[in-house]
Amino acid sequence: MEFMEKKFREMNKDERLEYIIRKTNLSEDSIDVIRHAVAAEKTMDTANDALMGENHIFFSKQSIGIAPKIIVNGIETVAPMLTEEPSVIAAASHGAKMTEKHGGFRVTNKFNNPHVTIGQIQLVGIKEEEAESAMQRILEHQDELIALANKASPSLVASGGGILEINAKKKNTRTGIQIIVDFRADCRDAMGANAVSKMAEAMAPEIERITNGNAVGRILSNLAVDRVVICEAVFDKDMLALKKHINGKDIEISGEEMIDRIVSLSAWAEADQFRATTHNKGIMNGITAVAMALGQDTRAIEAAAHSYAAYGRDYSPLSYFERTKDGNLFGRLEVPIPVGIIGGIIKTNKTVKACVEMTKCKSPAELAALIAAVGLAQNVSALRMLAGEGITSGHLPLHNLMRKSAEEKR
Ligand code: MEV
Repeated sequence: MEFMEKKFREMNKDERLEYIIRKTNLSEDSIDVIRHAVAAEKTMDTANDALMGENHIFFSKQSIGIAPKIIVNGIETVAPMLTEEPSVIAAASHGAKMTEKHGGFRVTNKFNNPHVTIGQIQLVGIKEEEAESAMQRILEHQDELIALANKASPSLVASGGGILEINAKKKNTRTGIQIIVDFRADCRDAMGANAVSKMAEAMAPEIERITNGNAVGRILSNLAVDRVVICEAVFDKDMLALKKHINGKDIEISGEEMIDRIVSLSAWAEADQFRATTHNKGIMNGITAVAMALGQDTRAIEAAAHSYAAYGRDYSPLSYFERTKDGNLFGRLEVPIPVGIIGGIIKTNKTVKACVEMTKCKSPAELAALIAAVGLAQNVSALRMLAGEGITSGHLPLHNLMRKSAEEKR
């Protein structure tokens, strides 16, 4: 067979390397790096099949670090983090340290079932005058629909999960009336994206039959409102104080003054969407880094968080800070964290599995609690830096230090 006629995933190591070199305009240095990285791989099949890689060429060598001590609901653990920003891990670690004297982070679920993922089925082609009765029929057939969906996900049902409820709503869209069927499914230890989409697909033909509509979209919703966690902590006034000598200047800010400044930053984010977005980005610096190390769907978490920031309100900061009666800083983060502890890359990638084990978390709710705690820890440290020495003095020197040391090692 002609080399170029092969699909990339069918090529062996040498062919993949040759393809990349021919198709791209790489420098000699990069060719050398890639040649070595590809040579270090055993077989391409191992990566494709066992590690859920697609068109694999080599493994990325990004560092996973840890926030070494974080107390969540009274349990001390570590948080593995994968991020390209070195200061993120230092900031999260320091944020967590500032809560120790006050018992760490307390995390609860806003609602009572943190295992729920929402699924949706979109129905088109239903006339306005038939919409109400179509919705009525969907509700009347709930039991059969649930049975069909549960049959499509037997392992979920065997582990105690399955559909909890089905609802229907009418939307006036620019392409006409649409009926949207929303359902909530208990996905137990999984995040449930695949299970829920499978359930939506399994119910769609029957829903089409009873409504005479056409089911076009059948998919989960990433707005995981059932998985919202509330994470609270008290940050110690004395540890919030800042005393540094930077760029020939002494910076000294008392704990009390720092709390005033952080509360004012919190209020700014509430009043200004431009600031709220950056404030939330700081929270996601921590959340996404832990989620990456733990093999979670970071885009699902990001989508849920930003959507929740504008859920029934203008886009708002996900966290809130105020001074406590005894003069420390209280922080509260409210954010959906849709995660799972089984399935996906956790099953197939040993490093990810080890990272999940490292956290001691045994359920999606525990994992979500840890991730939220890192988000709040990260947030408070970013605000302290912003209110103190400033981002370019606080954050960038660590980047430069890491870059310099990497260059020296080369
Ligand atoms: C930088 O990655 C994150 C911050 O901009 C967050 C914030 O401004 O709150 C420092």
